[in-house]
Amino acid sequence: MSVIAERLSRIKPSPTIAVTQKARELKDAGRDVIGLGAGEPDFDTPDNIKEAAIRAIQSGDTKYTAVDGTPALKKAIAAKFMRENGLDYEPSQITVGTGGKQVLYNALQATLDAGDEVIIPAPYWVSYPDMVRLAEGEPVTVACGANKNFKLQAEDLEAAITPRTRWIILNSPSNPTGAAYTRDEMKALTDVLKKHPQVWVMTDDMYEHLVYDGFEFVTPAQVEPELYDRTLTVNGVSKAYCMTGWRIGFAGGPAELIKAMAKVQSQSTSNPSSISQAAAVEALSGPQEFIEEHNVVFKQRRDMVVEMLNDCPGLHCHKPEGAFYVYPSCAGAIGKTTPDGKKVETDTDFVTYLLEAEGVAAVQGEAFGLSPHFRISYATSTEALSEACKRIKRACEALA
Ligand SMILES: Cc1ncc(COP(=O)(O)O)c(C=O)c1O
Repeated sequence: MSVIAERLSRIKPSPTIAVTQKARELKDAGRDVIGLGAGEPDFDTPDNIKEAAIRAIQSGDTKYTAVDGTPALKKAIAAKFMRENGLDYEPSQITVGTGGKQVLYNALQATLDAGDEVIIPAPYWVSYPDMVRLAEGEPVTVACGANKNFKLQAEDLEAAITPRTRWIILNSPSNPTGAAYTRDEMKALTDVLKKHPQVWVMTDDMYEHLVYDGFEFVTPAQVEPELYDRTLTVNGVSKAYCMTGWRIGFAGGPAELIKAMAKVQSQSTSNPSSISQAAAVEALSGPQEFIEEHNVVFKQRRDMVVEMLNDCPGLHCHKPEGAFYVYPSCAGAIGKTTPDGKKVETDTDFVTYLLEAEGVAAVQGEAFGLSPHFRISYATSTEALSEACKRIKRACEALA
């Protein structure tokens, strides 16, 4: 009998981490590899944030903290929610975890009973279905293809709701597509949700600040205040503040839920790093101008990548509103044969071919629940991106 729990057989390791790891291994072995798999900004953490962490170390801010966040950080988060989202959360309605990932995990562990359903629009961030399964829930995925601009439609949401639906997870701007809901699109969804009081809203706003062309970011509880009492608004400093390694995520929501999430956390990681929490206070309260400066660069890269990919035979790339991902279709490459005689039958075959033939590491759409597509992260240098797109074009042209 295996020592491994049956529960674990229901989930798989994160495929995006696997691609990043494989690209790293190939690079270490001397291959010329361009990694487009990682979901993190290539910009360094701003100096004022690093300095706040150094000050925290020097002043002895190095001990356990309150389980779900220091008073100082909760205060900074409450101010952020009010300033940027018009949402009023008391400290008792705020939780801080070791990354947005732990916050989402805690919420699902705290609320799901066996067989509870969670609606997840596909394509989705890879972790949602597996986190739901680990909590013994049932992921209910709803296909949101390129024909729907990768966004959940009100009628598809309505059709997916059952008496067992406990949550819907929304993620705008989205990983992996970059698609973001306009106020009207969000209102169409919240209008449906208003009719179904058993459904709670878990909104993953991790990419809030990464929107381009003047796009207005909105979050569900702001668009429909009636949903405030059953919405968990999740966010974090990882992406906009270039702090993926610091591991700080947070959420605002009803006090009862927040308290239950702290109970889960108290039996796993205790509290997020004291030093990272001090740094996050500075991130949320200090200068914000660099975010716009980064966005100018991200927008240029997005535009370049979309144009170059649309010039590749067999690919079609939609221009997204935000985040730092594009999710091109590779439907035109499926059924073709590589120069060394392998048939490309799936998007996994396609990304394997890109890696082997041209040293470009992307992630197969299969991992995100919508094929045949692949995800490219453009959070990497403009030069590397341009070279990667040239290689992708060469690979597409070599298919017969
Ligand atoms: C949509 C989405 N949610 C949550 C996370 C997790 O963020 P963190 O690094 O803060 O745990 C990520 C990270 O890739 C993400 O893309």
